[in-house]
Amino acid sequence: MNSQPHFWAVIPAAGVGARMRADRPKQYLPLGGRTLLEHTLDCFLDHPGLRGLVLALGRDDPYWPTLACADDPRIQRADGGAERADSVLNALVKLEALGASVDDWVLVHDAARPNLARSDLDRLLGELADDPVGGLLAVPSRDTVKLAGVDGKVARTLDRQLIWLAFTPQMFRLGALRQALEQGLASGAAITDEASAMELAGAAPRLIEGRADNLKVTRPEDLEWLRLAWKQKC
Ligand code: C5P
Repeated sequence: MNSQPHFWAVIPAAGVGARMRADRPKQYLPLGGRTLLEHTLDCFLDHPGLRGLVLALGRDDPYWPTLACADDPRIQRADGGAERADSVLNALVKLEALGASVDDWVLVHDAARPNLARSDLDRLLGELADDPVGGLLAVPSRDTVKLAGVDGKVARTLDRQLIWLAFTPQMFRLGALRQALEQGLASGAAITDEASAMELAGAAPRLIEGRADNLKVTRPEDLEWLRLAWKQKC
């Protein structure tokens, strides 16, 4: 494995997480006595390669100021935007203001993905250190995948060997990612992760296999599972 590069981290945390059907945005739900967001931040803050971290927050977020880490000087803030891609773009602009250069690596990670293993983070950094484009943690599909038709019936079965689930962190060079997001947003394309913006720009991000338990909390049962896993960890 290559030696690890220094990097910046961006955590978009301006979403509401409607699929959780909770009383607050999912990143503020509790796990082991703290919020999901605090655990997520921990995955990065103590890493020796981290140059800085930007958190994109909703403008009127009432929850963030109540957290113990709200005044942590290592955490810089940017305004969230209408879509995830807008939030990430705002954070990249903030990184430039903090002195990051266009060739620096940026790792973008979901706020509600608190179970990122250090070994996965180190593997991503090591594997992509000398890559011209970058890439993402991903997991090969363990289930057979069906493509649905508009009628809700199976239109086709996809080749499972070729299906990967895109996780985070996603790691790209600051300048290239900023340009790809700006172009993608201007074109009106659906950009659900950073890799898709890079793909639209003609780049081929690398898939780095990670752990399946690097789960993004999306549905109530995800949090139930994580709470059980956390009890065993602590
Ligand atoms: O909704 P989903 O889980 O796909 O969101 C992924 C990440 O993007 C979450 O961390 C969420 O807070 C963030 N996000 C954002 N700004 C938005 C929408 C989502 O920062 N407008």
